[in-house]
Amino acid sequence: MTSFPKLSRNSSRHQGFGEVKEWQSTANGLQGKSDLANFRITIYHGGIIRVQASKFEYFESNPYSVIVQPEKVEFKLIEEKGQVHLTTPQVKMTLDLNAFRLSFFDLDGNLLNADDSLGISWIGSEVAAYKEVQKDEKFIGLGEKTGNLNRFGKAYTNWNTDYFAYGVGDDPLYMSIPFYMGVHDKGAYGIFFDNTHKSVFNFGASTNRFIYFSAEDGDMDYYFIHQPNLAGIISSYTWLTGRMQMPPKWALGYQQCRYSYYPDSEVYAVAQGFRDKKMPADVIYLDIHHMEAYKVFTFDGEKFTDPKAMISRLKEKGFKVVVIMDPGIKTQKGYLPFEEGLEKDLFVKYPDGKTYEAQVWPGWCAFPDFTKAETRSWWAEKMAFYTEAGVDGFWTDMNEPASWGQFTPNLIEFEYEGEKASHRKARNIYGMQMARSAQEGSAFQNPDKRPFVLTRSGFAGIQRYAAAWTGDNVASEEHMLAGIRLVNSLGLSGISFSGYDVGGFAGEASKSLFARWMSIGAFAPFYRAHSMINSNDAEPWAFGEETEEISRNYMQLRYRLLPTLYSKFYSSTQTGLPLAESLAVQYSSDQHVYLSAFQNQYLFCDSFLVAPVESTKEITKVYLPKGEWYYLFSDQKVKGNQAVYQDCPLNYLPVYVKGGQLFTMQSDVEFTGGSHDGVLRIHVYQGHQGSEYLHYEDAGEGLEYLSGQFLKRKISYNPSTETLKFEASEGNYPSEFKKLKIYFHGFSTESVLIDGKKRSFLSEDFAFLGKLTEFDPLPEHDHPYFEIKNLPYLECDHLPEAFEITGLN
Ligand code: NOJ
Repeated sequence: MTSFPKLSRNSSRHQGFGEVKEWQSTANGLQGKSDLANFRITIYHGGIIRVQASKFEYFESNPYSVIVQPEKVEFKLIEEKGQVHLTTPQVKMTLDLNAFRLSFFDLDGNLLNADDSLGISWIGSEVAAYKEVQKDEKFIGLGEKTGNLNRFGKAYTNWNTDYFAYGVGDDPLYMSIPFYMGVHDKGAYGIFFDNTHKSVFNFGASTNRFIYFSAEDGDMDYYFIHQPNLAGIISSYTWLTGRMQMPPKWALGYQQCRYSYYPDSEVYAVAQGFRDKKMPADVIYLDIHHMEAYKVFTFDGEKFTDPKAMISRLKEKGFKVVVIMDPGIKTQKGYLPFEEGLEKDLFVKYPDGKTYEAQVWPGWCAFPDFTKAETRSWWAEKMAFYTEAGVDGFWTDMNEPASWGQFTPNLIEFEYEGEKASHRKARNIYGMQMARSAQEGSAFQNPDKRPFVLTRSGFAGIQRYAAAWTGDNVASEEHMLAGIRLVNSLGLSGISFSGYDVGGFAGEASKSLFARWMSIGAFAPFYRAHSMINSNDAEPWAFGEETEEISRNYMQLRYRLLPTLYSKFYSSTQTGLPLAESLAVQYSSDQHVYLSAFQNQYLFCDSFLVAPVESTKEITKVYLPKGEWYYLFSDQKVKGNQAVYQDCPLNYLPVYVKGGQLFTMQSDVEFTGGSHDGVLRIHVYQGHQGSEYLHYEDAGEGLEYLSGQFLKRKISYNPSTETLKFEASEGNYPSEFKKLKIYFHGFSTESVLIDGKKRSFLSEDFAFLGKLTEFDPLPEHDHPYFEIKNLPYLECDHLPEAFEITGLN
């Protein structure tokens, strides 16, 4: 072991990396050292370069987040005038040997990102990378962080925290994703800081010199990512950290939660309520009161006399049951999970080997060490308790881990895959490993089914294991909007499947707030209403008729859009791109999208521009980026590149369709597995820029889709050739749809050719949402109603062969 002359380890003074004294090329980059530290630069693929720096002889790695190895990439290395130049097929990097300073350029020589002259440095064990800010640079991402879309001027801490009723600007929350993107006029890049210790990202708070990211301990270990656009960067980030697996289709449906529904008769009554009220729904949750004394892997025998029978009756109604699992295991003699955990040495311990205990719902608890493979498998086995009763999904809560007192001593020890680590290093990864265990348990218990796990806590890569929700929000207008930014930011950070507690967890939603939240939630990847113990009833029918009708309208719209949702979920499993996508992704150089007035807007499933707005507003301003846009409900066409005033009565959420896009719909169903009429409705919108849509079907459950039991079909609209082209179906899954009904929005022609044969359009009056009943006779309380008059359409068989519709203008 070489020894470096060092300042004392506990020095509170800054130590720069210093001059690079020697370096060598390696199979995929270079490495070298200064008097203080080592560095290693590794090319992962053309656009991804990993930078590691350590004051120790060997580098420390997070074993949990990155799931790929470096690819073989051709690269060039030249040393010239005190600099090393590294060129990959997508990026140039310069290393200043004098003071270990890195700069990254695109192949045209445009500077993307550069270290400040302070470069990589330490204060004791704290390691930081200081970066220059480029002109007008915006910083976006960082996962579940409150605040503005553009994070410039603010600092954020990554330290997974249980935070009941957090404020809309508070930080940190439950989940840490240390990945952000920088955007400026020379290009865009992403940085993933792969260190699980408590870390800070300071995007210019209290300094005008630099931005930086730092961690309390561990190495500097980041991945620099460059691609021509943000979508490419997000795809690269999710190539590194993985993508969500295809969820069961039922998880895309509406989900009803409450802290807690009990006894079983209440669970039935709520489920029946949805069927009686003709509100489509798929899932009902069992929160902590399903347990006996809050002990995981138990049912309260009085409240739930026969859980298996209850779940099977719910299944007959088309409902799946998701059950909560908290990590804390009551330290009670005779309670099997506790006894087993002790015996098998599965709990988190103090350094002297004593079991660590803290209080949560059950009282004093031990905490399974999910950073240990044996614990994860044990937990997975224990889950038989639920799966044998018929439970289909799992909700991992309190997994920051949370405990009363909210301050875990740092010395407790975790296995960390054999490396052993204190709470300082393990906390941020704990929740993700619990979610992983839940997913593995679900797959282990039901190998023929797709797992569904919902998690509160997580770290980079959590998307591989679970959907996420944004924890204990509050029933307020500002929280509703803040939740949208959280979900959009999660989407920028690789987590496509996320949502918020519709209606607000803490506090009481007003009728109008609930109605608006249900409307917006219909356009969230994860659609679940939830509310707190001792609060008023909060099912969509509990707020009076107007709210009930509005809720039903949007729930039905969501279910009619299932073919689009399911197809886009599939695409997201392939690309890692968000389903609720901040406008910054596609319009990153348009300054309007970062303005506070418009920063909540997002594209849902590529086609729908959703402009979330408070329920108290009757009119709002919507920013429409370049292109053509159609107000969803009336088909009114609006030119982009401008802000428009849009009425937003309670029953119409401002939603626009992007010209040139297409999406698919089906007839109403009661739940995702319910039967529809077999007609796939395709809505095509005229625009100057066309699009390609990948229609995807499979059984909605099970894993046969991985061995060919799927149907994929590209449908593309090309305005320059005036064609709508259906490519031949791929895969062995027979389509659920026998017929196609194609609606044409914004086109002037009255007929087209299908494979050369003339077909004249038919037309009908069409509405995306139903008309509300007018309960109040006063005219000012009337609700507007939009119907698209004489909407042209065509019907044809849904044959698997390729065909083309031409003459579409
Ligand atoms: C905290 C969770 O965030 C909330 O959703 C849940 O209802 C309660 N724990 C009780 O389990």
